[in-house]
Amino acid sequence: MHAYTDRKSKMTQNNPISPNLPCKVRLLISILTTVIDAVRRSNGTVNRRLMSLFDFKALPSDKPNNAVKTPDVMVDPSRNLWFRLYVPTTTDPASKLPLVIYFHGGGFVFFSANSQPYNDLCKRLATKLPAVIISVNYRHAPEHRYPSQYEDSMDVLKFIDTTRIEGLDLNNVDITRCFLAGDSAGGNLAHHVTDWYWKAFLPEGSNRDHAVVNVFGPESSGILGVKFPATIVFMGGFDPLQDWQKMYYQGLKKKGIQAYLIEYPNSFHGFYVFPELKESSLKDFIDKLSTC
Ligand SMILES: *[C@@H]1O[C@H](CO)[C@@H](O)[C@H](O)[C@H]1NC(C)=O
Repeated sequence: MHAYTDRKSKMTQNNPISPNLPCKVRLLISILTTVIDAVRRSNGTVNRRLMSLFDFKALPSDKPNNAVKTPDVMVDPSRNLWFRLYVPTTTDPASKLPLVIYFHGGGFVFFSANSQPYNDLCKRLATKLPAVIISVNYRHAPEHRYPSQYEDSMDVLKFIDTTRIEGLDLNNVDITRCFLAGDSAGGNLAHHVTDWYWKAFLPEGSNRDHAVVNVFGPESSGILGVKFPATIVFMGGFDPLQDWQKMYYQGLKKKGIQAYLIEYPNSFHGFYVFPELKESSLKDFIDKLSTC
């Protein structure tokens, strides 16, 4: 759901270098782009009330709905830190499922773990992979700047490690197969969105060379000595951030990390939340994963 402004002209005009998209997806992107432009104020704040009219939410469900239970689990009420758990209910009870911890996108500013498109995406992942998914509801910038989002994410990981959670126990989850996944800001792969988002996210006075943005840049502490896991970067051919995604992948390779880059030539930033697109087919995604 990231139709960022700098893509707008290319997405909505009849431009030969834009991806080939169904009408419905084009219309949704154009509405979303208009809303996202309207709610971002020039003084760096967000009109949350206006955004809430367009950011439709999906309710949690303790009962299976399309073969997935989706309860919410509170981690820390003082900062409204919680996650939504996606537990498939029709998989073979004898086989343990991998665990995927998912960080949604939205420039650190928009959307939540219960936003309809992310809820639907996580449900598809849960049934098609299949896997148990935890979708983290981290705090938003600019109301909460860096490092709030990292603290929230780490605290959810610690909570999972130390707390008994119904639906998430060693009987149904193979904790040795645990994956961290995310899109856009959520994956922290999107090293550049627009200046507006970085200004909203970073502490006042810092720039894009801040170590959390330019992760292989001059101010970065690097990842040497860190047991960094194997990493897959997914990239859309029409994503304005693709050069940064490629550099991220190359940066990992240069540090000797096992890294893979998978490109979707006809896709734009956030394509995976549109089930209408053949590129967001999870079967195709899983086939691509198995080539890594
Ligand atoms: C930003 O603008 C909005 C709307 O004009 C206003 O309500 C808000 O107080 C302003 N915030 C700051 C920090 O200037």
